Amino acid sequence: MMKNVTDSVYYVGADDKDLDLFEGQYVIPNGVSYNSYVIMDEKIAIMDMVDKRKSAEWMENLSRVLGDRKPDYLIISHMEPDHSANLMDVIEQYPDIRIVSNDKLFGMLPQFFDVDVKDRSVSVKEGDTLELGNHTLHFLMAPMVHWPEVMVTYESTDRILFSADGFGKFGALDTEEDWACEARRYYFNIVGKYGVPVQTLLKKAAAFDIQIICPLHGPVLSENLEYYIGKYQTWSSYEPEDKGVFIAYSSLHGNTAQAAEELAELLKAKGVEKVVLSDLAREDMAECVEDAFRYDRLVTACPTYDGGIMPVMEDFMYHLKMKAYQKRTVAIIENGSWAPMAGKILKEKFEAMKDITILEDMVTIRSTVKEADRKNLDALAEKLK
Ligand SMILES: Cc1cc2nc3c(=O)[nH]c(=O)nc-3n(C[C@H](O)[C@H](O)[C@H](O)COP(=O)(O)O)c2cc1C
Ligand SMILES: [Fe+2]
Ligand SMILES: [Fe+2]
Repeated sequence: MMKNVTDSVYYVGADDKDLDLFEGQYVIPNGVSYNSYVIMDEKIAIMDMVDKRKSAEWMENLSRVLGDRKPDYLIISHMEPDHSANLMDVIEQYPDIRIVSNDKLFGMLPQFFDVDVKDRSVSVKEGDTLELGNHTLHFLMAPMVHWPEVMVTYESTDRILFSADGFGKFGALDTEEDWACEARRYYFNIVGKYGVPVQTLLKKAAAFDIQIICPLHGPVLSENLEYYIGKYQTWSSYEPEDKGVFIAYSSLHGNTAQAAEELAELLKAKGVEKVVLSDLAREDMAECVEDAFRYDRLVTACPTYDGGIMPVMEDFMYHLKMKAYQKRTVAIIENGSWAPMAGKILKEKFEAMKDITILEDMVTIRSTVKEADRKNLDALAEKLK
């Protein structure tokens, strides 16, 4: 189990290393953690719960930390089942516990649990506080980060922000890996659509002196907080994070793939800082969405398929639209053997997005890449570099 957050704030969460897909769709090669914390004071507060897959482990962790004491409050920041699945266990084990959250969450709770919590509920609003003794909890509402009932809690003695899913990442806690890579994949795929509410929350949180961030997934952050907050600032404002070109392609027989590869080589030869090439059918889609947001330029390359675009490209474009893709420069390569249409379709999709600069130099390939196409690819690379 992870070490304590401070002398009086304990980690009681659990790693999940054999879940096949998080939220039924995201591969998690290094698992995921469901974080939960306990603040031990005159009054004891439990900060969120875990997924039902880890109920037993969590209850065990909890009772070890509590010893012979009983918890006074259960703070629920978010109703999603990966953090609130164990409510019935808690009520059964600790019948006097009071549940602290906001009206929106209490309104949603009966959808998940057949239990009446009216007599034990403490409803808090923006700016309300709860005294535990030495610790004081301050509640900040974070609607639509990424569910409507979400709130975060600031503890002013240890100066901890309990940030709900904010600042979360994929990967179990014993995984040694770069934070940004899996935090970014998590952010854009799960929270990406809600940049504006995240910005609002960041502004609110800036009023507090935060020394530690305790998210619901991934490591507790206690050093270089400006780095993590800076990343969230960039991501939630939809600004590109790095200079570079992401080339996302799909291909039936390999010719569009070849064009994409040749463009990548041309860009590198022209000194582009970073070029990332992904086959949408073979790479993790969530990773491709992440890369589209990470870099300032995107190229989509696709054959015409039954008068449309390939389903995997349709899927990719759908993801970008859903996640409010914007503020980028894009270019298009299309292919077709009898009536190329892919470029027109892609262009229309980009036109429907906000602040997208579409380069005019669309490259149209007829079946295979020929010398004339190479000239066009070179001209496109010149514009993109
Ligand atoms: C199932 C299928 C449907 C296709 N539909 C179209 C089409 O509607 N219009 C067209 O011009 N080409 C169509 N094509 C041809 C491909 O777009 C064309 O051969 C292209 O060069 C394939 O590029 P690739 O080598 O990257 O797969 C289709 C090919 C397949 C296999
Ligand atoms: Fe969530
Ligand atoms: Fe979560």
